[in-house]
Amino acid sequence: MPNQELKTTYTTAEVADRAGVHKDTLLRWLRAGVVAEPGRDRHGWRLFDEAQLADVVRYASASTTPILTSSFSSQSSALGDEIKRLQGIDWDFTGAKTDYLTHGLHPYPAKYIPQIPNALIQELSVTGETVGDIFCGSGTTLVEALTLKRHAVGVDANPLACLISRVKTSLLSEDALGSLLELASHADSLAASITASAERGLFGAAAFASKGSRPPLEEIGFWFEAHVIEEVAEAKLLAAGLTDEAARDAAFVCLSSIIVNVSKQDSDTRYVRRDKNIGPGDTLRRYARTLKDAVRRLAEFADMREPRFASNVLCASVLDAPNVPTLDLVVCSPPYPNAFSYHLYHRTRMLWLDMDQPTFKREEIGSHRKYSSKGKNAATVYTFSAEMQSIFRWLKSALRPYRFACFVVGDSTVGGQRINNADLISKAAEAHGFRRVADLERTMQANKKAFNPAIGRIKTETIVILQNGTGSAN
Ligand SMILES: C[S@@+](CC[C@H](N)C(=O)[O-])C[C@H]1O[C@@H](n2cnc3c(N)ncnc32)[C@H](O)[C@@H]1O
Repeated sequence: MPNQELKTTYTTAEVADRAGVHKDTLLRWLRAGVVAEPGRDRHGWRLFDEAQLADVVRYASASTTPILTSSFSSQSSALGDEIKRLQGIDWDFTGAKTDYLTHGLHPYPAKYIPQIPNALIQELSVTGETVGDIFCGSGTTLVEALTLKRHAVGVDANPLACLISRVKTSLLSEDALGSLLELASHADSLAASITASAERGLFGAAAFASKGSRPPLEEIGFWFEAHVIEEVAEAKLLAAGLTDEAARDAAFVCLSSIIVNVSKQDSDTRYVRRDKNIGPGDTLRRYARTLKDAVRRLAEFADMREPRFASNVLCASVLDAPNVPTLDLVVCSPPYPNAFSYHLYHRTRMLWLDMDQPTFKREEIGSHRKYSSKGKNAATVYTFSAEMQSIFRWLKSALRPYRFACFVVGDSTVGGQRINNADLISKAAEAHGFRRVADLERTMQANKKAFNPAIGRIKTETIVILQNGTGSAN
């Protein structure tokens, strides 16, 4: 039998693993001083001894004490330990890594950093419960809920958001991952041959013509170079040919993730044209790179996720009171009035993916388009307030009584007036029996959240914690 040395020191990752929490969570606890800082090795890395490991494991199991035994299982007005713990957290998460696992699969405007839902889920729910995000966007909350061994339910009216969320939370088989790698290598060789043909003097579309379908030229001609259209059409054709549905969806998400970069759309949140000098072969090469990166992320996620915790994504407007399983916790970041226009930023992506963009445009809450339009149909702050009222009317029965809905919100500007969305949303919630039990302030790092400073000028956010005081679910 080999002579095994007894292990007496542990790295941060090993301690987090033993405690069953994410490494970022452990780092947060260390920063907050709720577990003791260990010593460091000669390179400055933390090294925990047995006793320190035991302390962290003890703290982690205490922090998953069922909340239903807390003061918030009743109408008590006393602040519970959960809220005190939330108030002790530094919500800025400065320097935290945010694109781990499937979080880095696809860009999304105003996507929040995963550390926010991670901390809220840990403090306000327990293993096995169901966490909902009623504006799930790119699925940040859902990924965190699954890694923390909760079931996840997402709702979004944007079909692209739903596709991204589904893929980010899906469990792909080895075969499915293999088929994506084959697709990547095929796209790579095709890219090399297109570049070679172009260098031999066959420029533009003449270097390669795809048999794949594409949106009408009058819709996309303004936004894409002719040779890019051929390569995107080919990437779409190759993706559609995958037999495994989850692999096919992942291939479409990879394609969608490169669309804005290879188009002339300035950026994810600027719908204006700019030439970008995309050469023949570049699009398929980029697609291949994205596929390989996605396989690595999806495999890593599949490794750490337990299949018994399910994710369910509904493509619906929350204004239509969608039918969801009873939720134990809601964590979301709603659209703000006049801040973004998701239907516009995602227009070219949705065209390529044959998605119903006009319906989403109609259903989208808060869109800059609706607030900047002229005439009697222009949206106002009252429109947003009425929408929030209707959402809380539905949410009070979708969320278990006395449990929490956490809304991450910033201010926005409507008709030159600054709107305090945290107050506006809380008022709508209070009208339906919710209690505003805490406001947690955070400063956003501009480089960590895709936001549009020209429209919203959002620098700080509030995490409003609302308790379902008189809910009727059971
Ligand atoms: C701030 S984003 C959420 C981002 C998300 N937290 C993430 O990390 O990716 C707000 C979302 O609300 C969605 N939305 C807008 N109107 C909606 C409606 N009527 N019903 C459901 N979702 C809607 C938008 O499509 C967008 O994805």
